[in-house]
Formats: sequence, structure tokens, C-alpha cells
Amino acid sequence: MRFWSLVGVVTLLTAGETLAFKAHDFKTCSQSGFCRRGRALSARAKEAKSSWVSPYSVEPSSVSISANQAVFSAAVKSSLYPEINFGLEVRIHDDGVARVRMDEVGGLRKRYDEAASWALIAEPTISKDVKWTTGKKDTRAVYGQKKEIEVVVQHQPLRISLLRNGKEQIVLNGEGLLHMEHFRNKVEATTTEQPEPVEGEGAEGEESSEKAEEQVVLKAENPRAWFEGDTEDALFEETFSSWTDSKPKGPESLSIDIDFPNHGVVYGIPQHATRLALPSTTGKDPTFDDPYRLYNSDVFEYLASSPVSLYGSIPLMHAHSTESTVAVFHVVGSDTWIDVSHESDKSTQTHWISESGILDTFLLPGPTAEDVFKQYTRLTGTSVMPAHWSLGYHQCRWNYVSSEDVRTVQQRFDEEDMPVDVFWLDIEYAEDHKYFMWKDKNFPDPVEMTNDVAANVIVDPHLKRNDDYPAFKQASDLGILVKPPSGQGEYEGWCWPGSSSWTDFFNPASWDWWINIFKPNAVEGRWTWTKSTTDIHIWNDMNEPSVFNGPEISMPRDNIHYGGWEHRDVHNINGMLFSNLTYQAVAARTDPPQRPFVLTRAFYAGSQRFGAMWTGDNLGTWEHMAVGIKMVLANNLGGFSFAGSDVGGFFGNPEPEMLVRWYQVGAFAPFFRAHAHIDTKRREPFLLDEPYKGIVKNILRLRYTLLSVWYTAFRETSVTGMPILRPQFIMFPKDKAGFTIDDQYYIGSSGLLVKPVTEKGAIDAKVYLAEDQVYYDYLTNFAYRGSSKGKEITVPAALHQLPLFLRGGSILATRERPRRASSLMHHDPFTLKVALSQAGTARGELYLDDGVSYDHTKGYFIWREFSAAKSGKKGVRITSKDLGKTKPAEAVDGVSLASYDPSNKFVQSVADVRVEKVVVLGLAGKPSSVKVEGQNEELVWEYVPGVAASEKKDGNASVLVIKDPRVLVKDDWAIVIQ
Ligand code: NOJ
Repeated sequence: MRFWSLVGVVTLLTAGETLAFKAHDFKTCSQSGFCRRGRALSARAKEAKSSWVSPYSVEPSSVSISANQAVFSAAVKSSLYPEINFGLEVRIHDDGVARVRMDEVGGLRKRYDEAASWALIAEPTISKDVKWTTGKKDTRAVYGQKKEIEVVVQHQPLRISLLRNGKEQIVLNGEGLLHMEHFRNKVEATTTEQPEPVEGEGAEGEESSEKAEEQVVLKAENPRAWFEGDTEDALFEETFSSWTDSKPKGPESLSIDIDFPNHGVVYGIPQHATRLALPSTTGKDPTFDDPYRLYNSDVFEYLASSPVSLYGSIPLMHAHSTESTVAVFHVVGSDTWIDVSHESDKSTQTHWISESGILDTFLLPGPTAEDVFKQYTRLTGTSVMPAHWSLGYHQCRWNYVSSEDVRTVQQRFDEEDMPVDVFWLDIEYAEDHKYFMWKDKNFPDPVEMTNDVAANVIVDPHLKRNDDYPAFKQASDLGILVKPPSGQGEYEGWCWPGSSSWTDFFNPASWDWWINIFKPNAVEGRWTWTKSTTDIHIWNDMNEPSVFNGPEISMPRDNIHYGGWEHRDVHNINGMLFSNLTYQAVAARTDPPQRPFVLTRAFYAGSQRFGAMWTGDNLGTWEHMAVGIKMVLANNLGGFSFAGSDVGGFFGNPEPEMLVRWYQVGAFAPFFRAHAHIDTKRREPFLLDEPYKGIVKNILRLRYTLLSVWYTAFRETSVTGMPILRPQFIMFPKDKAGFTIDDQYYIGSSGLLVKPVTEKGAIDAKVYLAEDQVYYDYLTNFAYRGSSKGKEITVPAALHQLPLFLRGGSILATRERPRRASSLMHHDPFTLKVALSQAGTARGELYLDDGVSYDHTKGYFIWREFSAAKSGKKGVRITSKDLGKTKPAEAVDGVSLASYDPSNKFVQSVADVRVEKVVVLGLAGKPSSVKVEGQNEELVWEYVPGVAASEKKDGNASVLVIKDPRVLVKDDWAIVIQ
């Protein structure tokens, strides 16, 4: 059965019928007017070759540099339309990022210019250290510590470039594809009659009639045809399938080429089901025919390899070479298509075509990936520090049908000793899909049940149009629903509940209303969600928004939002506002607030501040399993690390082998949740037969032993912006062979390297080691030796064997006691796994806090550094040091710590947590003594000889196990191995 047959809007398919991606539901570039125009522009430029010159240029006399040397501004003209004015502004931020903005000035209407205000956390500070100079041909800014960066605005034709040490890194309009379609009134091509004023704009008077005449005359001569083509293509109205887009504002698209000379690979612009290093869509040997598209969409049964848009959009693209990483952040909220071409392996050309919006593009100079992430997250914020429990395992299905059902499932997990932190209730918990309203018959005791089993629920953005439904009634009374194209009344479309309307979260009047609904205690005079608790967390789905009977399964683009903006202007941002407000609502239930968990399907740049995402409705196939890893990696590169895919695949009934592999994939994603479509067979892990059940139980347990590793990685990303999952190019930026590897990755700074197996019947796997370093098999302690030239090793990978390695030089803090939920682990002791490097050293970090409150922003946490260094001739000294004390100024969740007290409240609450075991891998020989420094007593230890870290060979590593060294996690100490 097709999934939305439940709402009765589409034909039913009978069981067994093949389901497939419905390509005809979504536009290709050639079916989208502005994309067609943009691509045609680029085709004409290609054909014209060197005779192609951009019509846009800076008016030299207008160039002005602000008094503090901070801002360049100038008037820009297009030779095609001398009467139209554009304004250009370039600002250099204090971290070296250059922001380029261009807008039409004094036009017939205003272009949407608010995308950045939703994406950015603050207005960036402008550098005081920039010197702009204007010459005959250009105006340039020089800056950087060694004055190594230059931003050059060439006047004619307009071309903006960012250079490092004289080498171009990013170039805007180098190919002359910049085109900001100015606002115009509709003119009938065959007459010279005065045009009808556009609705709502009033008469334009003489001036516009002059323009109209001019346009028609010019049309006859067609002097602009070399640039714009000789036919008007879908400027004022457009039809797709059975929908007509009225386009009252006419054409307003924005085309710009962004090239990365000297950078052969590009990554990012999630979300697409494709390789991490983005394959070409145009030019030489394109992999895809269509450009990558960013238009948040509910794509049924999406393909595992395709440039089509999916549920979220982050217009951030990284470009990488052995010399540097740079990025562009192109802040547009409208439908955007991006062509990528690699004419040589040394440079990349891209072409961005958006339906509306101003040019607002940030050039991130890097030059390292670390710098780029810092620069990007200074703009849009870092990933939120999650509630600790949310890093555990989430069990979900559409649907657990009753309180009894959920309780039974939870009980079965307990009986099997399988850890799980939370159960999710999908849409069927809600009466008639009216979110917040429990189906009383099935869920008679929602508060007790959610308390008993830690159940969380879905809340979608569509509101059933029914006056008995308080959420709808209130929103309707407040006038905060999205409006139809007329701008009057309420837009009505179809979703799960049938006839529905959508809250317009761009309307500030909706904010308090939404926040108040989630309060379990009644708010005077208002209906609120009293049948809930402050422990219920929320899943936001369908927020692209998905509209079953709308164009491209979404809202008509000419719908009207707050401020009179059309849906087309804000489409990609819309879903983020929903999860933003839900995040605020969940936090506001308690005073002081507790960390919310909000899962979202649609997202935009900045969504990382509000929770986690998942990759939507994947299929239970090996291809989807594999591409899911790449998608999660791409999301990490997009600054949104808290990501995962439905374990098991949403559609289909995976065979046990596939399900096991999928658990291995999921356990190594930041967000770990199993989910399944309503038509699938139950597949909770306890239902598996042996040996599958036992293997999955071990995977779940492995995830839980590593929770502190994940949590420490989250802390790092929340401070530095570095992604949690790190592909090869980030770890080894100079190793070309690693640039296209996207099926193995490192976890934070932990030194863990994982290569999930996504092939049926695999018994071994190939893993790429980019350095001359020892890598220890995490489960067997077998030592593999990499090579500085890059080396592929083959490792055992039968179903129970997951290729997981600890890089020599790392120290991992794990909690090895099997528990049923993360909440039971807070006082568990730690095991330290010290993986000695070839040089005999190692280092690692452990970050802990209460995991629920915001007290960590007050400095209530433990942050330790563990190090191992050589001591004496063959000895090793392992130390524990307080990092909170040494680095107090680092911001956590955006809050800088003025001071840090090593005996803070949290430290006291875990004062008794000890290190119960230290395992040292790769020692050169059997020690003669192991002691805590300053104490005479010999510790209890065992040594199994094996390969030393310094030896250039593979084999079982030597293992020293120190039992109960009697040291506490909160203390400074040293263990000396002689
Ligand atoms: C679509 C979501 O992607 C899926 O996860 C969910 O189960 C269904 N909507 C029903 O809510």
C-alpha cells in the first residue's frame, strides 16, 4: 500500500505491487522555468567561449569605502538594462570571511533578503584590520596575519575573487553567469499597450509604461538575446503537472557562477543521495544530467544515487585541494539548483541558480578544514550540546499502537538485556492525526505510560482543519496560518489528517502560542497539552512542508507568509523555524530549562542549533544503507553533525543479515534510531533468531560502552564546530587518495576509525590507512601498520566482526558495564584504552556533565586530558589532567566561561567515579613495575606479549591490563609503567 493511501487522497496500490520513486512528482531542471533559463545562460556562455563578457560592472565613481575601512560598497549596472540599479557590498569579518551582498536598488519590488537573519546567530563583526585600495580596474582588500589574503572586486566586468598568497581560491562571476533578474511588469509581447499593474502593487504610472514600450521595442530588435535568449521563458506564469504557479512578482531569479580554481573536489550542499565528493552534473563526463537541487521535499522512495532534492538544504559547499580547504555559504532560502563541473582534476566550476532572493554569499577562506568549520559555525552556530540520553539507542516504528504495546516492547528489551533509551510514537498515537490529542482508547494513560517507558512523540506541522481541534482553532483565531495566493483566509491542503492548514512560523505572533502549547500545566484561559510531561521529547516530521495534494508534494510557491513574502522565498527555511520553535517550546516547559531533544526531517543552515535530523524514508536495500553513510557524512560537513538514517530501512522487510549490518551502521552514526514503515513486519532486535540477536545485542552494548566518546565528540563540535564524523580529507588533507573515500570515517578526535560493512555476504573488508601509524583492531587488539604512501589493508568482517580501529596515539575512556539505559551509567567506572603510537605516546579527552541541564554553561563539568608519554628508557607515564582549568575561556554552547572551578557541583556529584581498568596496547616489553606515581604499592596487572607499537609489522599487539588502579576520574594522577 502506498504510504499516503491512509488519507485516501491517492489511488491505492495493492500489496505486492512494486513501489518506486515517482519522478513525475518532482521537477527536473528543464521543467522549472528559472532553472531552464539559468542553464540556458550557461550554455550560451559556453558556446560564446572567450567572447562572452558579463554585462554586469561596477560604476567606478560610485565605489565607496566606509570610514573605518570595513565595508566596500558600489553601484552595479547591467549593460543590458541601464535603467536598473544594483547595489554591491563587500564586508570582511574579523575572522577573514568575506561577505558579498548584491540587491536590486529602487526596483519595482523588494527581493527577499531575510534568509541570513534566520540562518545566522548574530551579525558578524567586521574586521578593523583590512585595507581597501581602489585602482583603475579594481578595488581590493588585503588582510590576514601576513597580509596573505586578498579580496579583489574587478570593476568591469564585475568579478570578485578571494586569493591566498596570490593564488585564486574562490571566484564569483568569473564565467560571467551572474544574472539578477530585475523586477518588471508583465508586458504582452505583441502589443505596445500599457501593462496591467500587478495585483497589490498599484499603478506604476508613466515610468512603467515607458519601460513597457521600451521592452517591447527592444524585443523586436532583441539586443539582449545573446545573454537572456530570444524568448521569454516562463517569466510570469508556470505550469507543472496540474498546478499553475501564478508568479505575481514575475521573474526574480538569481544566477551566479562560483569557481574554485586550484581545488579539484567539492563536498557539502546536503541533502542528496550521492557520493561525498560531489560528482559532476555538467561539462566533461557528468555523472548526473540534472544539477543538484536544494528544495526541501518529501520524496517518496528516493533513489540511492541522484542529485534530486531531499528533505533538507544547507547551501554550504567546501572545496578542497592538497593545499587548502575553502568554502562558500550562499544564503538563499528559495529553490536552488547547482551545477558542478570538473574540467580538470585541479579546479571545480559551479553554477548556482535560485528562484528568488538577494545575492548574499560568504566566502570562507579556510585555509584548513578546521578553519572552515570554525568560520561557518561562527556564522550559523555550532551543534547543540544534546541531552546525554539522546545519544543512546532510539526504538521507533510506525506505529506502536497502544500503551500496552509500548510497554511490552520495552519489557522485551529488558528481558533480553538490550540497552535502549527511548521509544518513539508515530502519528497513530493522535486521534485523527490531531497532534497532542491522544487516542484515548489505545492510550488511556499517556502520562503514566510515557513516564514508565520514556516514550516520545511526533508532532507534525499540519493542523487538521476542525474547530474541535484546539491547536487549529487557536491558530485560526490568531490569524497565524499560512495564507493562499490571494493573501486572504487560510491555505488548505491535504496531509495525514485530511484537510489541513499550516502555522506560519515566520509570524512572530505564532511563537509564544506554540511555546505555550507544550506546557503540561494549563495556561490560564488557554488550551495546552496537559496530557504530557516535561520528559516527553519531540519528533518534527513533514516540515518541508509535505502537502500531499500540492505541487511537488509541497505548498504552492505563491502562498503568502508573514510580511507578504511568498512561500517560494522562504521554502527551504520554513522547516527550520518549526524545529526551532519546538526546541524552544520543549526547553520552556521547565524553569530552569532542560535540554530538549527535537528530531527534524527538514532543515536549513542553522538547524544544528535545534537538535538532530535523520535522512528520511530510506529503503531497506544495501544501496540505501551505503548511501545513508555518505548522506550523514555530508550533513556533518554541513555543520549538522547530529544525524543518522533509519536503521533497517524505512520501507521493506530486511533479512536478518541486512538488519545486523544496519545496526552496525547505525551504532556508528551520531543519531542512532531504528524505524520502520507501518506496512513492514515487526523487526525489533529481540525478535531476531540467534546468532543475529546476540550480534545485535553486542552492537547495542558497544554503542553504550562508547557513549562518553560520543558525548566528548559532541562537546568538541559544540565548541569548535569540527564535525563529529570526519572523512579522510579532513584527517589527512594532503593525501589525495583519501579525497574521494566516503565509506570509512573517524569519530571526533577519539582516534576511532570505522568502516561499516554494507555488502551482502561480506567476510572481509578493505580499509584505507593514510599514514605510517599503527591501528589496533578495536575488538581483537590486532595491530595493523599503515604507510605514509597510503595503504589498503584487508580485515576480517564476517557478520559479527565490525571493522573498527583505534588509531595509535589515542586514549579512549569507555564504560564497559552492560546497562539497560544510559541513565543508569552516570556513576559507572571508566576503562581507559591507551593505544600507543609508533612513537610510544598517546592522548585523549573525556568530557562529562549532568547531561540534562544547562549547568555546563556555568562551568559545571569534568573535562580531562589523558596522556601517555615515554618515561625513562622503556617506561610509559600515563597522566590525567584537568582541561577545564587550563582552557576555561572556551565557549560551551556559545557561552564563554570566565572561570571554572575544579571542584564544581558536577564534579562533586561524580566524585566517586573511578577508573577501574587501564589497558595499554603496544608496549615494547613486559614491565617490571606498574605504580600510581607517589605511591609505593605495586598495582595488579597482567601482560600478554605481542607486537609493539614501534615495530613495523602486523600482528597481535602486546596488551597490558592494569586492574583497579584506584584513581578517580576527577583527580590529577599519573601511572608509571617501568
Ligand atoms: C514520514 C516520515 O519520514 C516517517 O518516518 C514517518 O513514519 C511517517 N511520515 C509517518 O509519520
